[in-house]
Amino acid sequence: MIADLLLTDIAQLVSTAGIGAAHGGAMRDLVIIPEAAVAIAGGQVAWVGPRGNWHGTAASELSLGGRAVVPGLVDPHTHAVWAGDRLADFDARSRGESYEAILAAGGGIRSTITATASASHDDLLALALPRIAQLVQSGATTIEVKSGYGQSMAAELTSLQVIASLGPLTPASIEPTLLIHVPPAAVNERADYIAMVTRELIPAVAERGLASAIDIFIEREAFTLAEATEVFTAARSSMLRVKAHVDQFHAIGGVELAVSCGALSVDHLEASGVPQVTALAKSRTVAVVLPGVTLHLGLPAAPARALIDAGAAVAVGTDLNPGSSPLFSTREAMALAVRLNRLSPAEAFTAGTANAAAALGRGDIGRIRPGTRADLLVLDSADWRDLPYTLGASPIARRFIAGHEVLL
Ligand code: NIG
Ligand code: FE
Repeated sequence: MIADLLLTDIAQLVSTAGIGAAHGGAMRDLVIIPEAAVAIAGGQVAWVGPRGNWHGTAASELSLGGRAVVPGLVDPHTHAVWAGDRLADFDARSRGESYEAILAAGGGIRSTITATASASHDDLLALALPRIAQLVQSGATTIEVKSGYGQSMAAELTSLQVIASLGPLTPASIEPTLLIHVPPAAVNERADYIAMVTRELIPAVAERGLASAIDIFIEREAFTLAEATEVFTAARSSMLRVKAHVDQFHAIGGVELAVSCGALSVDHLEASGVPQVTALAKSRTVAVVLPGVTLHLGLPAAPARALIDAGAAVAVGTDLNPGSSPLFSTREAMALAVRLNRLSPAEAFTAGTANAAAALGRGDIGRIRPGTRADLLVLDSADWRDLPYTLGASPIARRFIAGHEVLL
């Protein structure tokens, strides 16, 4: 075999076993190769194994000095494009006002929509770029970014164009999602809004290739099951995958609906109970937990322990957004899932790599094995467990995306 680059002196090379989403106990099934090497060719992993088993030729060789190597992290849930801030909400919540009450009174998400609508494409791009850079620094090599602070057709398209513009400006790969976030405040405008979304916005987004999936916030203060059903039907007609924000405050049937529609993922789940855990355990839909929201809003933690014990596939993301989760570290989301959602370190590892990739429908990232994109993190440690262990500092020494080192 002829490789472009051979990485050597790897104390531990760690990746989740198997392919696709790891369900239940398989989330703890890590392949750990001591004294390993990785060969990279054409931006992909070409070979992995104990160093002594490598008999090929490499154009160059790089010693990693006895450090652990893990897959680049995948952040399956961010809202990185917004203008304005939510510092007044932060203050108000510290005095006891609830997130939902602020939203119901026309603030919260709606105030970010107002600020975002008055920003230009270039303003929004300039605001989003440093946020994406923070996520990359934290170990993310693929980042999902949602629209959803646009609301009008024109503003949603602008947000999606900003997300498309991020791609060439960051070394990470960006997965764009159209988020149908909140309905118009006036009840009599809801039907027209859903008609605009299903007949105009979704077909336009699909035609222009601006999103790979459609997300919708199903909640008492947001969309109903009937409205979500219409959105999912339109997504299917436009050949787009679906996912949903569900059970953040109330379990109103969003999990069950999304699972029955073959959703890639259902995200949040803080209010999920036994029926939702059971539905997810029987499905292929990935359960995405967002511990930044638990921390910032003081919500109950999503029942990730029960989900894994029942056999579901759990992933973790930052939910980076100004209102419910100002968490700028994909790695720290993984670390918080151990503390707040009671995942084991190995489960959190899989939740932030292989299962986060599955939540995006991506089989080419999230693991280190021949044929995957060579997205690798080199830790400042010989033990991979420093990745979910460390809080408030970075245990990541070097990052490679598609075989190229990212210099920050
Ligand atoms: O994932 N819950 C809905 N949407 C976002 C929050 C958006 C915001 O508060 O600005 C979330 O938590
Ligand atoms: Fe979200």
